[in-house]
Amino acid sequence: MGALHFGLDPRLLEALRRQLPLRLFFETGTFEAGTTTAVAPHFDRVWTVELSPALCDHARQKLATCKHVEVIHGSSPDILRARAPALASSSVLYWLDAHWCGGPTSGAANECALLDELAAIGNLNDSSVILVDDARYFIGPAPPPHKADHWPALLQIETALRRISSQHGLWVINDVMIYAPNRIAEDVIAYGRAHGIDLLRLANAARRNAQADAAKPSPETVKAHDARSGHGLEQGLNAALLGQDRSERIFAFHAKRMGITRLLDIGGTAVSSQRKSDGLGSTASSTRSSLRGPRTKSCARTPSPMCAGFRCRAKRWAAVKGRSI
Ligand SMILES: C[S@@+](CC[C@H](N)C(=O)[O-])C[C@H]1O[C@@H](n2cnc3c(N)ncnc32)[C@H](O)[C@@H]1O
Repeated sequence: MGALHFGLDPRLLEALRRQLPLRLFFETGTFEAGTTTAVAPHFDRVWTVELSPALCDHARQKLATCKHVEVIHGSSPDILRARAPALASSSVLYWLDAHWCGGPTSGAANECALLDELAAIGNLNDSSVILVDDARYFIGPAPPPHKADHWPALLQIETALRRISSQHGLWVINDVMIYAPNRIAEDVIAYGRAHGIDLLRLANAARRNAQADAAKPSPETVKAHDARSGHGLEQGLNAALLGQDRSERIFAFHAKRMGITRLLDIGGTAVSSQRKSDGLGSTASSTRSSLRGPRTKSCARTPSPMCAGFRCRAKRWAAVKGRSI
C-alpha cells in the first residue's frame, strides 16, 4: 500500500516483464487483496500470505474464481521457508508488504517481517525480482503509531539483500525498493526516469495548493456574503421556494415572470400541472400521454438536469405561445 501508488504500479510490472518471464507472483501481506486481484490476470500462479484469519477468509472469497491464486494463511517467513524449493526454480516477482498497519491487520507484536522474509527466501535467482513496498518506513524511521524499533533500517535491508544475491542492484522508486538483476538495470532506470516522482516537485505542488486554499474565503465569509446579497439557500427567492413542490413553484415563478397566464403542460402529470397552474393562478391542461409533442432537440436523448427541469418544459410551452426564452 505505497504512499505514491496504491499497490504495485502496472508500469513497473510492464518494465520488468520486458526482460524477465516472471511467472509467479508471491505477495506477503494480502490485506484486502487489492494488489492480488490486480495482478492475478498477469501471472501463471499467484501466492499470497496473510497472518489475519479474517482477512485471509475475505481474500479467499474474493478470489474464489481465480483458480491459479492461492491465499495462504500464516506468517510470511514460515510460508516462504516452506516453499523455498519451488521458488528457487521459478521466475518470481516478490511483493513484500507484510506488516502491521492498524485496523483489522495482524502483526502488532512484530510489526514488520521483512528481515525474516529475506532470510527465508535464502537465495534469489537471476530471473527473479524483490519489491519491498512502503520504502519510506525503511529509509527513515516508521512514524507513530508504529514502533520504530520494529522496522529494520536501510543498511540492514541492503545487507540482507546482498546475502541472497550479489547479482542484483537496489533502487528506490516511488516508495518501492526494487532489487532486480543488474542486467536489467537500464530498464529499471528508464522506468524511474519516466515515472519516478520528484519529491521536491511534489512538495512544491503541495505548498502551492496549500497557499491557494489559504487564499480562498472561509465558509463563514461565503455565508456572510450570501446573507448580505440574498443568495444563500435560506435567503430571498431560495427561502421562498424551499420545501414541497419546489420545482413546480420555480416553474410557476419564471412562467409568471415571462407573462405566461395559461399552461399547456406537455408531459406533465395532472397533479404536477395543477401545482404549476396553482402557482400561476391559471388553468392548466396536462397532455402526458396523448398530446406528448416532439421533444426539443436538447432532450432527444438523455435529458440533462437543466433540460429535465422547468427550463425545458418552459421552452416547449413558450414555443407553443410563440415566445422565446
Ligand atoms: C500493508 S497491508 C498489505 C497490503 C497489500 N499487500 C496490498 O498491496 O493491497 C499489510 C498486511 O500484512 C499482514 N501481516 C502482518 N504481518 C504479517 C506476517 N508476518 N505474515 C503475513 N501477513 C502479515 C497484515 O495483517 C496486513 O493485512
